Amino acid sequence: MRQKIVAGNWKMNKNTEETEDLLNELIDKLPNDKDVEIIVAPTFVNLSSAVNHLEFTNIQVAAQNMHQAESGAFTGEISADMLKSIGVNTVILGHSERRAIFHETDAIISFKVDAALKHDLRVIFCFGEELKDRQNKQHFNIVENQLRDGLFQIDKSAWENIVLAYEPVWAIGTGETASPEQAQEMHEFIRETVRKAFGSDIAEDVSILYGGSVKPENAKEIFGKPDVDGGLIGGAALKADDFAAIVNAI
Ligand code: G3H
Repeated sequence: MRQKIVAGNWKMNKNTEETEDLLNELIDKLPNDKDVEIIVAPTFVNLSSAVNHLEFTNIQVAAQNMHQAESGAFTGEISADMLKSIGVNTVILGHSERRAIFHETDAIISFKVDAALKHDLRVIFCFGEELKDRQNKQHFNIVENQLRDGLFQIDKSAWENIVLAYEPVWAIGTGETASPEQAQEMHEFIRETVRKAFGSDIAEDVSILYGGSVKPENAKEIFGKPDVDGGLIGGAALKADDFAAIVNAI
């Protein structure tokens, strides 16, 4: 059985006080009797306090990004070792906002993946096509290339530390969700692509999350598809009731 996962990416939201308030609400409202891994990704400045705050709960903490270098003159950046040193075990890499706004290429993302795995961080690897790619019927090619150029350099043994997150860019923060059928079609393709490159065992075991305007109203239908193993949630992760309803939909 593949691990079901619901992760909340808080992006650049919530100051320290607001972070504490939301974490307290989540502790109250999230279920702790479901077979699902729950992850939250607050901003860098609140990661350490979130790890401490959630120590005795079933909620894990992830970082939203990291730099690929070990250390050095990279003003404003954070390394894998720094994340590990505060008790963070998971990092989101390759998010479409990092790709589009901060010009992260597949090559840069592949270096980040390697650096994270070297430090035994689990990677939530994000990828997905833009609207124009889908309109030009290039979405399968784009997704396959993102996987090959950003992730497939890893060893077979590293897959136990990989979670995939398919996020069609046109569905992120737009209110426009991929239909459950579109999500399933792409997730099936992603699993098949992994199978061709790394074999059936890895393809069957890897959790593939869907991200892009998941809400309490559409979560159950999307999560009901056989190759969708959970979600990476943006806007709806900032409201405890909505996030709890999405977790309960799995
Ligand atoms: O990381 C999360 C995704 O970008 C989805 O964001 O749920 O606000 O569309 P959204």
